[in-house]
Amino acid sequence: MIETGEFTLDNRLVSTQESEEDLALERGLRPLSLSEYIGQDKVKENLAIYIEAAKRREGALDHVLLYGPPGLGKTTLSGIIAREMGVNLRITTGPAIERPGDLAAILTNLSPGDVLFIDEIHRLSRAVEEILYPALEDHAIDIIVGKGPSARSLRVDLPEFTLVGATTRAGQLSAPLRDRFGIVQRLELYTPEQLSDIIRRSSQILGIPCTRDGALELAGRSRGTPRIANRLLKRVRDFADVIGDGQITEEIARTSLDRLEIDNLGLDSNDRRMLDMIIRGYDGGPVGLETLAAALGEEAVTLEDVCEPFLMQLGFLSRTPRGRCATRLAYEHLGYPVRQDVPPESGQLLLTQE
Ligand code: ADE
Repeated sequence: MIETGEFTLDNRLVSTQESEEDLALERGLRPLSLSEYIGQDKVKENLAIYIEAAKRREGALDHVLLYGPPGLGKTTLSGIIAREMGVNLRITTGPAIERPGDLAAILTNLSPGDVLFIDEIHRLSRAVEEILYPALEDHAIDIIVGKGPSARSLRVDLPEFTLVGATTRAGQLSAPLRDRFGIVQRLELYTPEQLSDIIRRSSQILGIPCTRDGALELAGRSRGTPRIANRLLKRVRDFADVIGDGQITEEIARTSLDRLEIDNLGLDSNDRRMLDMIIRGYDGGPVGLETLAAALGEEAVTLEDVCEPFLMQLGFLSRTPRGRCATRLAYEHLGYPVRQDVPPESGQLLLTQE
């Protein structure tokens, strides 16, 4: 298995960015088959059919695009696809494939039927994408040999393979690339019940005693994301060992998460800082993303990819053409008074004059 790529280290407990520690943790916890995989039922049902059909035809599975917020199991699913198909998995990321030659090297080393997983596929360069098109369609690549007038194109045949592309931003994929995926599946945030099942499974594998209520308490604060749930499980285990008897109970989970400043809905101090800035710094918005990022000293992409999907899902944040706005629910959650004469959908909620 080739594992390449760059991962931004981020210390936020509820970050959806994958750290080196997560990688090690997730590797041990990843389900290896569709039947072990919890949640994403529609995706699982569809993939099971496509995999079965491809196996019956003794062909490679069609190319698969998985999209949705980070931390939901796109890499895990690619591993399951390869395993269920009985082929090798090669893993790389869009930004790691810098030149067309890098991709050509990967493609020419594939065996028939192999799964090539490209994470963050929206970050492939145009030049690399150009190589990918004939590889996906005709199982061949065109390599330019020589320079200037004597340069000529050499066609190299490839084995049939399956590309599994993953992206948090399907909208940023170029249309020609998107059109080459026969199977397109969107991953959804997990429900607290599903996350609680994942936490109980992980706690069993890691040998961490965890009650049903303890798992549910953790699940409710994991913002719909298994990566965060597993990370919180590890942190809360430390509290259980030190302030309890080693078992994660509802009480231990609640106390530890409160201490970690992760509130009952899973918001951490950065989420609250963002909402606070919109409400108090910009009268509830609208405020442009770049302005907000500068005011908070954060990267705009971090706000957009990590904070916003969850805050929007909670209905705490709305995106308008003129910028981001905090909603009535956000005011209420943070304990600010809301001027009742402003409808929540206007995006313009002002603090009451006191
Ligand atoms: N660990 C992380 N994600 C999982 C999932 N969807 N099912 C089971 N275990 C997991």
